[in-house]
Amino acid sequence: MAIAPIFKKAYWSLALIGGLYFVYVTLLLNGWIQRQALYVHNLHTAWWQSPNKPEQFGFLKNQVRPFTVVTPDGEELYAWHTLPLSIYIENEDALIRESASSKEDPQSSLAFKLLAKDPESRLIINFHGNAGTVAQGWRTDTYRALTSGPVYKLHVVAVDYRGFGYSTGSPNEKGLIIDGIATVKWALDVAKIPSERIVLLGQSLGTAVATAVAEHFVVKEGLEFKGLVLVAGFSDLPTLLMTYAIGGVIPILSPLKPYPGLQKFFAKRIQETWFSATRLANLVRKSKNINLRIVHSQNDFEILWTHSDTLFSAAANATSTGEQGLTQKQIDSLKIHQDLGESGFSNTWMTMQEDGGRKNIRQDVVRYGGHNRLVTYPVVVKAIANIFRGEDSN
Ligand SMILES: *[C@@H]1O[C@H](CO)[C@@H](O)[C@H](O)[C@H]1NC(C)=O
Repeated sequence: MAIAPIFKKAYWSLALIGGLYFVYVTLLLNGWIQRQALYVHNLHTAWWQSPNKPEQFGFLKNQVRPFTVVTPDGEELYAWHTLPLSIYIENEDALIRESASSKEDPQSSLAFKLLAKDPESRLIINFHGNAGTVAQGWRTDTYRALTSGPVYKLHVVAVDYRGFGYSTGSPNEKGLIIDGIATVKWALDVAKIPSERIVLLGQSLGTAVATAVAEHFVVKEGLEFKGLVLVAGFSDLPTLLMTYAIGGVIPILSPLKPYPGLQKFFAKRIQETWFSATRLANLVRKSKNINLRIVHSQNDFEILWTHSDTLFSAAANATSTGEQGLTQKQIDSLKIHQDLGESGFSNTWMTMQEDGGRKNIRQDVVRYGGHNRLVTYPVVVKAIANIFRGEDSN
């Protein structure tokens, strides 16, 4: 008899949690709240540091140069240009002596000249994940890993999308794609780096931006890049939200798993869909040559690594010229699988097209790296190095 009130209490607690969750998902139907939850652009954790003082994040004096990218719809995006360590060392004295006034006009700065005036410079355009700024968390380690790595004269440009950090505006899918295109246009038109010296790199949400941007340039401008590297990406947002938890903690649609009907109802009402697998397939189909690297870690608990399988299959399928494409079985038997033991595995897909084009797709799945840290790991630097070396595998 004494147990009954405890059950009663438990029942009401559960009912309360259920009720609160219902209020929460219903609120998420609101577009503004949805965007706050997806982009988390107002959240950053570097309160005591300023992106305008990159030295606070461990960079050498004037190794990083903040600048602005202006979008055609009038937003001003805050961006960072990080110099390759090798180039920095060769120009150290001049970089240290450079006065603050010459930094005011970004195009007269030495860093800009070292990027734009050197016919050998190569550029990574980095699209980051949700929340924070270009200087958040592992992002600064990413630029360091890339600019100190084996690729000669590799510069990194990273940008804060609209509504993030010091950038103006507020984020949405269409806007983020405009921002990505504007950043690439800055590289092509202002810094005058040809697309065959540019690799687009995305992490998490940034993979969706990088894919949409690459698709735009191939479809609308007939322009192909040296490569596209997608780290911890996802197939599309409605599918992701079935399992995703904000920061690995706050679930979105996963508590509705026992109610598929309800889950679908909410998934259909996600306004920002980011259909990346579809865009990736279209990009691969429309490209003559493509170097695509899909990297994921098995201990990524925010975006399950199986999303990289979906992306790989969508891309491989799109190399097929046949009417009905390939079945999953055909893709699985034709891909070259390599078991790398404790470091994971890789799948490679290479085709020589009838028009002489080459489509190289590779999936690297490592065991360790989590969601955010993976992009700083050698597997990513190696992927980029291989793209620039023009090697097909390993
Ligand atoms: C490959 O693409 C075709 C359409 O071109 C589609 O019908 C087929 O289901 C796809 N295969 C896989 C495994 O997704």
